[in-house]
Amino acid sequence: MCGIVGYVGNDQVAPILLKGLAKLEYRGYDSAGVAVYDGTSIQVVKSKGRLKVLDEKIHGGADLSGTVGIGHTRWATHGKPSDLNAHPHSSESGRFAIVHNGVIENYLELKSFLAEQGCHFISETDTEVVAQLLDFNYHGDLLDAVITTLKKIRGSYAFGILCSDFPDRVIGVRKESPLIVGLGNGENFIASDIPAILERTRDIYRLQENEIAVIKADGVTVYNMEKQTVEKETCHIDWDISAAEKGGYDHFMAKEIMEQPKAVRDTISPRIKNGRIVLDHISLTREQIEKFNRILVVACGSAYHVGVVAKYIFERFTHIPVEVDVASEFRYRDPIIDKNVLVLVISQSGETADTLAALREAKRLGARTISIVNVVGSSIANESDDVLYTWAGPEIAVATTKAYSTQLAVIYLLAIYISEKIGVMSEADYQFYISELQSLPDKIAETLDSREHIHETAKQFYQKDDIFFIGRNIDYAMSLEGSLKLKEISYIHSEAYAAGELKHGTISLIENGTLVIALATQKRLFEKMMSNVKEVKARGATVLGVTTYGNQHIEKESDFVFYVPEICDMMLPSLAVLPLQIFAYYVAYLKGCDIDKPKNLAKSVTVE
Ligand code: AGP
Repeated sequence: MCGIVGYVGNDQVAPILLKGLAKLEYRGYDSAGVAVYDGTSIQVVKSKGRLKVLDEKIHGGADLSGTVGIGHTRWATHGKPSDLNAHPHSSESGRFAIVHNGVIENYLELKSFLAEQGCHFISETDTEVVAQLLDFNYHGDLLDAVITTLKKIRGSYAFGILCSDFPDRVIGVRKESPLIVGLGNGENFIASDIPAILERTRDIYRLQENEIAVIKADGVTVYNMEKQTVEKETCHIDWDISAAEKGGYDHFMAKEIMEQPKAVRDTISPRIKNGRIVLDHISLTREQIEKFNRILVVACGSAYHVGVVAKYIFERFTHIPVEVDVASEFRYRDPIIDKNVLVLVISQSGETADTLAALREAKRLGARTISIVNVVGSSIANESDDVLYTWAGPEIAVATTKAYSTQLAVIYLLAIYISEKIGVMSEADYQFYISELQSLPDKIAETLDSREHIHETAKQFYQKDDIFFIGRNIDYAMSLEGSLKLKEISYIHSEAYAAGELKHGTISLIENGTLVIALATQKRLFEKMMSNVKEVKARGATVLGVTTYGNQHIEKESDFVFYVPEICDMMLPSLAVLPLQIFAYYVAYLKGCDIDKPKNLAKSVTVE
């Protein structure tokens, strides 16, 4: 996700752009830039780093004079964060400047074509290709050039476009990435999201797919791809600024829980091409994989819990032994590692100190390292041999949700890829699991539809002092994540236990009314789990079961049940985690906790 702002009016535009971008930093913040028409030409200033760096560079906007401009805060997808890769991007002639949110899928072929026409490029981005293509297609009519260009590109985009031949306007275009038009008094705007313009206007147009808005100070005209004008309905926004930044949700965590279908889809889709899994730039040949006698997963917190799930998945799919380590333990246990070990390093932020140190230790010992990271260009991404990015977009809430889910998706992709490469998985199974993977985003969305039922259930338990999570096999791994989610945002004490282990001590803590959340999604272990549920029921526990649709047997032993859709056992964690996230959220909400910024916690733990 990136942040886009555009303005045409009578006030100095640079300060307005900076203020608008500041309201969009939650959408991306690894670099920022502005482009302003100064009466003669388009001036572009941009810089790596937070918006503050740009703000200081242009002295709050005072260095740039002009009343027409576009601005951008970046969340890198193609090309690491740098001054050169920051937006806006210009055509070689300087006639066009453009800002972009989205991914141009065919940018490489367009780049080759334009290079053959003599174009020169200075960045690694897909966006610069669009700036050059606009110039290539421009023959005096701006709208024609835009439409011709849009017909040549494939992908998702919201664009803000400036053309020095038409200095009285900004063009906004929307396809799959959101873009709104702000309707002011003698001034008009484009923006990725409402917070950017709320200080200036509450009246907006929401651009629909393939609509093109021409923004001028005295009015806005919206066109379709056939150059026909489109009548738009004005929406009045009542949200306050805080609610607007969260898309109308009460917390970023709620917004990010609901973004999971898209985040998982964005992570999976680009890696399945013509029915085959393609792992970006990673080339793991059969020979290389067959040299691995072990896979070691190292991470912290929720990322570590993904590693515990990964152990079950990789061993089931690849038959390669897997170890999982908490990063802070790994570093000091004198691990036995060599070049025949594949080390997977999982980290949302890519900056967790313990995980980064573990990565360096693994490399020092000669292991092949692949990181699974959500932040492009982060330390762990830069220092690992290979990186598989999760495309979850910026995750603001301290308690991870969509990043966790996209990490799971990458684990499935990698495990299926390796299994097929080394001949463990048949072609039929390969196609089956790819199909299951492609059904995941919709099943995540379907599971999220039960959030009100989960909210009602949370009302029964938000005043509990102790809550236990139990499960067997991959459900045990899920109980770890469910317990952490609850603890870190509601401050209720919780423990996760392998269900078969309870009787070896902890069951002594179960009393009348103790809440035990029993994860029972794995069919072949269901009866065993019901035995464990009976054990805690016998001691007075209240049981909340989690299982798949249709498995009503659980209701014989459970007081409450969360059901999730059917999918292959190995991918059930992606569905079972959702009611646990939502339950934790509503328990914390009912307790009035500071959900997005829980006490004592940081989003990225960059200290040991
Ligand atoms: C998860 O909800 C926590 N915020 C925390 O455990 C987190 O997963 C852990 O600190 C690891 O962070 P990373 O993924 O950025 O490395």
